[in-house]
Amino acid sequence: MAFENLILEKEDYLAILYINRPKALNALNAETLYEMEEAIKDIKADSNIKVVIVTGVGDKSFVAGADITFMLPLSPHEGRFFSDVGERVMRQFELMEKPVIAAINGFALGGGCELAMACDIRLAAENAVFAQPEVGLGVIPGFGGTQRLPRLVGEGRAKELTYTADVINAQEAYRIGLVNHVYPADQLMDEAKKMAKKIANKAPLAVGYAKFAIGKGMQVDIDTAMSIESDMFGMCCATEDKFEGMGAFVEKRKPTFKGK
Ligand code: HXC
Repeated sequence: MAFENLILEKEDYLAILYINRPKALNALNAETLYEMEEAIKDIKADSNIKVVIVTGVGDKSFVAGADITFMLPLSPHEGRFFSDVGERVMRQFELMEKPVIAAINGFALGGGCELAMACDIRLAAENAVFAQPEVGLGVIPGFGGTQRLPRLVGEGRAKELTYTADVINAQEAYRIGLVNHVYPADQLMDEAKKMAKKIANKAPLAVGYAKFAIGKGMQVDIDTAMSIESDMFGMCCATEDKFEGMGAFVEKRKPTFKGK
């Protein structure tokens, strides 16, 4: 698929989605968000793809936020619409059954940090930096940051980061649980691909059901969450891969999963 502001590469079971506006440090404007929706549709429909990596083009920036030049003239109505579109796109990463890994290769500011937070797993390069700088621009996070940051790092830390607009480095992001791992910049993509491969070798339906159970379960009370989990466990028992996975264990061999 050809895009103006994205590159979508596919390697076997892996889709790599690059945000590609290096002149603006990969800032997200409306066109880029619309293209991301198209790319997500393509990835969801491609049954070969089991894992997605999202990253930024270049070695400096993951995404330096929503595009400030684009946002400057927005009316209240247009601003709300832009926020809505961004929220919808970010949510698509959470709702798709395929796991999404953010490979954060530099600036993850504002909407960039929000994009990273909408991914399932965050891997950061040592040079990555994170912030929600919006209040310094007279706005607030609008791609889900006010909701996902407290869920990830706790309310107190989320409020401090959001009210002060402080920039934190990758190690601090790791310390507070904003990222899962930190790697030297030149190893980031290899590590992301290694993790993608590990996931792709597991039973894809089970991975998707686990994502569903965690995602839905985090939104509801614990009893409802438990029944979502047992429903999904039951669904796994309807798959060929469950017989393959458990059969392989009993027969002392490696399983070969089919995603069925
Ligand atoms: C538009 C951006 C941009 C952005 C960088 N650029 N970030 N353009 N929107 N978010 C552009 C610059 O204008 C510049 O273009 C080029 O990228 C290189 O940036 P420099 O500032 O020259 O680079 P550097 O000195 O290295 O500083 C990098 C930086 C700084 C620290 C990342 O660019 C910066 O502070 N950017 C803004 C970060 C930010 O506040 N993001 C949050 C946005 S609000 P030219 O043409 O001059 O070369 C947000 C809200 C989300 O994300 C929710 C919306 C609903």
